[in-house]
Amino acid sequence: MEDRKDVLILAIESSCDETAAAVMKNGREILSNIIYSQIDLHTLYGGVVPEIASRKHIEKINQVVKTALDTAQVTLDDIDAIGVTYGPGLVGALLVGVAEAKAIAYAAGKPLVGVHHIEGHIAANYVEHKELEPPYLCLVVSGGHTHLVKVKGYSEYEIIGRTHDDAAGEAFDKVARAIGLGYPGGPKVDKVSKTGRKDAVTFPRAHIEGCPYDFSFSGLKSAVLNYLNSCRMKQGLDGNEIYSRKTDNPEFDGNELIDPETGVTVADVAASFQEAVVDALVSKTISAAKDFGYKKIAIAGGVASNSALREGMKLACEKEGFELYYPKPLLCTDNAAMIGCAAYYEYISGTRHGYDLNAVPNLKLGER
Ligand code: KG4
Ligand code: ZN
Repeated sequence: MEDRKDVLILAIESSCDETAAAVMKNGREILSNIIYSQIDLHTLYGGVVPEIASRKHIEKINQVVKTALDTAQVTLDDIDAIGVTYGPGLVGALLVGVAEAKAIAYAAGKPLVGVHHIEGHIAANYVEHKELEPPYLCLVVSGGHTHLVKVKGYSEYEIIGRTHDDAAGEAFDKVARAIGLGYPGGPKVDKVSKTGRKDAVTFPRAHIEGCPYDFSFSGLKSAVLNYLNSCRMKQGLDGNEIYSRKTDNPEFDGNELIDPETGVTVADVAASFQEAVVDALVSKTISAAKDFGYKKIAIAGGVASNSALREGMKLACEKEGFELYYPKPLLCTDNAAMIGCAAYYEYISGTRHGYDLNAVPNLKLGER
């Protein structure tokens, strides 16, 4: 039995392709963090299929919640509130988590606290770094979002930069597919880039006039596609030969040539693309931190687990004298521990949702 002073949150996350539940103690301590990943299922289709994601969530959610409670060695009686992601995300996927959370809250007579998914990603840093407190600047880079956020308080945010087109993770996934690495692209580009030359091909960095902290990745993605096409034409290849490599093969190491004339390989293209993304993310984050006088920078979201981004940020922060925070990879990608942490801060500040809570696929950060 937990000490009565402790606040325990049961949190549920189902906004995309992870069915997750966690029990968090006083916001930052993980008692359990259960993640059922659907990745293998969606890999067959080269990306997340929303209908399949919802169906799998409904199949797994009760089991995942029960495992989270059992692993934490608590029962619903010990829980103070139920936290749940209610947006943004895939509507059918979100609905499963929201319906589950409402049913549990009603049956157990516990308060319900809806959480913004991005607020959860940011909160992952509190789980990792017990000493971290606002204010700080956070770069949120996931499959669906690329935001530079002023974190002014635990529930107070201001977005000062955003992407004009693709999210960073989306660009990773699309380029990975184009060079034949398959889904999910980010971790595969990250891995294969380790053997590539990041200066093999110079890809463009977008500058958006009048929006110094905004991002754009579609031009970069097109530049990679154009480069691949030109290589294909030089070799007299037609169809999609260059894109359809056998990459489910675990032995695939990216050494395959893209351009036999110059010796550029799949790994070189991956590393050069990754360098362009990292360069844009690091330079804009650092200049915003300087302009607004922040001392602390955090990164969050699935792409924050990218090894080149972590390294690039680390070097830049050391050079410029910023304190850098990032969560371990398991807390960067979707999980319910981060939702439980965000729900805790919402709960203690008085946020409560009614049984009419609905999924909001395009929920804005800071909206209630
Ligand atoms: O935060 P997340 O799990 O889900 C969303 O809220 O979108 O992020 C998933 C995204 C995917 O696009 C995935 O390719 C990317 O994060 N990602 C990475 C890495 N691990 C995951 N991107 C680059 N490098 C990685 N190591
Ligand atoms: Zn996410």
